[in-house]
Amino acid sequence: MAARSLFRTVSGLLRAAGRSCSSGGPVTLPRRGEPALPEAQALSPARRREFLRDHAAPFSAFLTDTFGRRHNYLRISLTEKCNLRCQYCMPEEGVPLTPKADLLTTKEILILSQLFVKEGVDKIRLTGGEPLIRPDVLDIVGQLHQLDGLKSIAITTNGINLARLLPQLQRAGLSGINISLDTLVPAKFEFITRRKGFHKVMEGIHKAIELGFYPVKVNCVVMRGFNEDELLDFVALSEGLPLDVRFIEYMPFDGNKWNFKKMVSYKEMLDMIHQRWPELEKLPEEACSTSKAFKVPGSRGQISFITSMSEHFCGDCNRLRITADGNLKVCLFGNSEVSLRDHLRSGASEEELLNIIGAAVGRKKKQHAGMFNIAQMKNRPMILIGG
Ligand code: 5AD
Ligand code: SF4
Repeated sequence: MAARSLFRTVSGLLRAAGRSCSSGGPVTLPRRGEPALPEAQALSPARRREFLRDHAAPFSAFLTDTFGRRHNYLRISLTEKCNLRCQYCMPEEGVPLTPKADLLTTKEILILSQLFVKEGVDKIRLTGGEPLIRPDVLDIVGQLHQLDGLKSIAITTNGINLARLLPQLQRAGLSGINISLDTLVPAKFEFITRRKGFHKVMEGIHKAIELGFYPVKVNCVVMRGFNEDELLDFVALSEGLPLDVRFIEYMPFDGNKWNFKKMVSYKEMLDMIHQRWPELEKLPEEACSTSKAFKVPGSRGQISFITSMSEHFCGDCNRLRITADGNLKVCLFGNSEVSLRDHLRSGASEEELLNIIGAAVGRKKKQHAGMFNIAQMKNRPMILIGG
């Protein structure tokens, strides 16, 4: 039987049986380097199904943690640099940047991506800093697009360089886009980002719509005293444009002066929106989604809430992160990191790397420490984690 159709059978079976968030990525067998279930190929279809049910590993053991969470989503930070200085992301004085030689090279990013994709990662998101200021971002997207098994390549950007780069990024294989925008008032944009650029971001959003990205996700961090009075304007924007406006609860990171009072909870946001649109409809929840989605009936777009603080979604977490300097981070709010870069550069084999990754994933905690504890914890500033 052709390897491809065997793979399809395995994926189909796993999709039917598993509780994974994976949409059927490649399957890892316990021993690396061996052909995929050669015995199965000699069997009749019915026996093969039985055989696979008994012998196929449900998902990469290396990417499955002790709570059964399957990590099929990898976020890679391409750079620590940014052309904005958002107040909630980094301290006013900026952050000390890692020397260039210590950042992952394009080749290293691709080697690691290939390894993760082979193990079942089927979605990669490129983050930063601002990923679109990395000069070789097009090349990286293009090469990721060649990886067999990778179903989605997305990017989270501040939108400043987006209108110019998006057509080429789309041709290179980019399939999803999140654009950060916290205010619809140009002067407030300049205050929160400490830079100009509101109109460029809007241009980027319209370009993404024009090129057919759907939905175009707009990330809006909601902070009391800054933009909670604009919630209704953002919802109105989603009525007229095919956007998913995602209201994000403000999260504490090193240097961002997080304060419980500045956080506007999901419940509070929803109340405000309900008062204006009592007919707001809840949309069905997607597996492993970190957001709760709603729609004003008749809208072209929708809104969502990312409730990392008031109602965490750790139980369904399927994400791993690689920082621009090559550290694997299994939790956004955890400070444990392991340097994949150092192991790569000292010549670790694929198997050794997988064992290191597997051990880190195995240490992943059940959930984050809760919003008050996170606020006290030592962690990197958001700009060095990559969102
Ligand atoms: N709280 C919530 N969201 C944040 N982001 C950056 N810092 C914070 C924070 N402190 C968001 C940005 C961007 C994404 C990468 O993370 O708005 O959309
Ligand atoms: Fe740059 Fe995004 Fe941080 Fe703003 S939130 S400074 S755009 S990385």
